[in-house]
This record gives sequence, structure tokens and C-alpha cells, in this order.
Amino acid sequence: MRAMQIPSDHPLLLRIVDDLATHGWSQQNIFLPQALTLELAAECRKRAAEGELAPAAVGRGPFSEIREGIRGDHIQWLEPGQDEACDSYLGLMDSLREAMNRGLFLGLEDFESHFALYPPGAFYRKHVDRFRDDDRRMVSAVIYLNEAWLPEHGGQLRMYLEEGREHDVVPTGGCLVVFLSGEVPHEVLPATRERLSLTGWFRRRGDEPF
Ligand code: OGA
Ligand code: MN
Repeated sequence: MRAMQIPSDHPLLLRIVDDLATHGWSQQNIFLPQALTLELAAECRKRAAEGELAPAAVGRGPFSEIREGIRGDHIQWLEPGQDEACDSYLGLMDSLREAMNRGLFLGLEDFESHFALYPPGAFYRKHVDRFRDDDRRMVSAVIYLNEAWLPEHGGQLRMYLEEGREHDVVPTGGCLVVFLSGEVPHEVLPATRERLSLTGWFRRRGDEPF
């Protein structure tokens, strides 16, 4: 799978930008090509088997800590140039970043992302993705890597929208969810099977708080 870039005026990207502008979030059930989804899932499992994923921390900097009562996933941050499938994913996210900068003037300068593996029963309690002391994260993007996921497997991403409305996303392979990091509280419900994803944040320029 070679590095993948699509034009920033691709209709799929324009739809996401339009959804973000009008609602603050977007769900695209058919985003990632199936072959790439399978490769990324295999890469995530391989890294997990090699012990490269570690329990995710809550908070940032010196105050971060492991708290399984808040989040129970295992993660590994992505670096470019390690793996072709990962680079294809990063290429697609860069196209999305460009599309958002053109359509929303967000001034997004970089993207940070990690694999996440939730063992059966693991969850992530309700939270927002922006840190209190660091507001660089503007847009969150989650892509699911799970084959043949059924609603009864659980593991939904539950988003808390305006006027008390809730929206659940079934974490089916190839599905992309994007939302404004500071504005959409959300949680991950426990699942009966292992749940794989790639989660990332588009950030604007800013100073490291410490
Ligand atoms: C996160 C998160 C959602 C998901 O990692 O901050 O909320 O559906 N992930 O995996
Ligand atoms: Mn989150």
C-alpha cells in the first residue's frame, strides 16, 4: 500500500468539512478503503503482540497518570516512515487537514495520532479531548479497524450533542468520525470483543504549556 493522498476538494472531504461547519461533527461509514483497513488492523495487532502498546494515560505532561477506572485502552503513538499502511493513513489525514484549512480557516498545522486497543470490557469515561492547560487540539478524528462488528458487541462511541441529544457510533472497520475537540463530550462504551482504532488530533500552532 503506497502513500495515499487525495485532492483536498474530493467530495468526501468537502462533505466532512460541511458537516463540521454546520454540526461540529461528521460520521463517514465508508471512508478508509477495505484493504488499508485490514493492513492497519494487522499492524496494530502485530504491535500489540510485540508489546509495543502501553496503557494510555489520562491528562498530559507531568500530571498524566494511568487510571483504568477512567480509560482502559492500550496505545502507541504513530511516527511517519515506520510502515506503509500507517503512512497511507497519515497521507489521508493530511488531505483532510488541508480540506479543513481551506473550508474552515482553522489554521491546523499538525496531526498527532495513536493506535488504540481496548481489551474486552475496557472503556473510556465521558471526556472532552482538549486539555485544560493546552488548547491546541482543534479537531479529533477516529477511524475504526474492526471487521464484522455488530451492535451487540458494544464498544460504541457515544457523543453528547447539543440539546441533550446523544449519538452512538458502532466501531465498524473503515468508519471515520470527526468532531471539534473542545466541544463534543464523548465516551467509549465497553465491548465484548477487542476493539481497534486509530485516533488522532489536528492541532493549531501554539506554545507547549510546559
Ligand atoms: C479518545 C477517544 C474514541 C473512540 O481516544 O480520546 O475518545 O471511539 N476515542 O475510540
Ligand atoms: Mn476522546
